[in-house]
Amino acid sequence: MAHTLPALPYAFSALEPHIDALTMEIHSQRHHKAYVDNLNKALESAPDHAGKDIVSLLRDIKSVPEGIRQAVINNGGGHHNHALFWEIMAPNAGGEPTGAVGDAIKAAFGDFAKFKDTFKQNALTQFGSGWSWLVWDPAKTAVAAIKLPNQNSPLMDGLVPLLGVDVWEHAYYLKYQNKRADYVDAWWNVVNWKKVEELLANAKK
Ligand SMILES: [Fe+2]
Repeated sequence: MAHTLPALPYAFSALEPHIDALTMEIHSQRHHKAYVDNLNKALESAPDHAGKDIVSLLRDIKSVPEGIRQAVINNGGGHHNHALFWEIMAPNAGGEPTGAVGDAIKAAFGDFAKFKDTFKQNALTQFGSGWSWLVWDPAKTAVAAIKLPNQNSPLMDGLVPLLGVDVWEHAYYLKYQNKRADYVDAWWNVVNWKKVEELLANAKK
């Protein structure tokens, strides 16, 4: 079955003023759509892999034929990263995480402020395009902060993405131009910690 572009769980304007409606529309309807279309195109030559769900496909990326592997990394990663991105944001969100996520962050970083700092530094020092991530590391049974270039998915490294900020220029340039730091600072106001809590609970299963 072909991969499909998910509908946003809120209006394009829902994350204003932190993320503007036009950026949300172009980001989801054009950028994300292109990843989905190009993933489906790449998988046309690999019917054995075309039926796999996106998580299995990325987790088992080494089994994807070499001829299309990079296309699947770029576009499959792009598809999954963005599908997650829309869900870990919400209107009237932000604040500090409580519960299991709050505890896991405290255990790994000391406190929320230190985590925010590390996560932001990763976002700012990712040269060019990429993502800053909070992941669950099953081997260490702990959360960790990492950065990855392009659309590389944490799933390819055996990690479970819980929270990620897209630092490709397409994610912020219309409103923030070159000021990536301002975009990341504003982005905390739309973090949907409830969804992150859900992802962490699933990751631990
Ligand atoms: Fe993006």
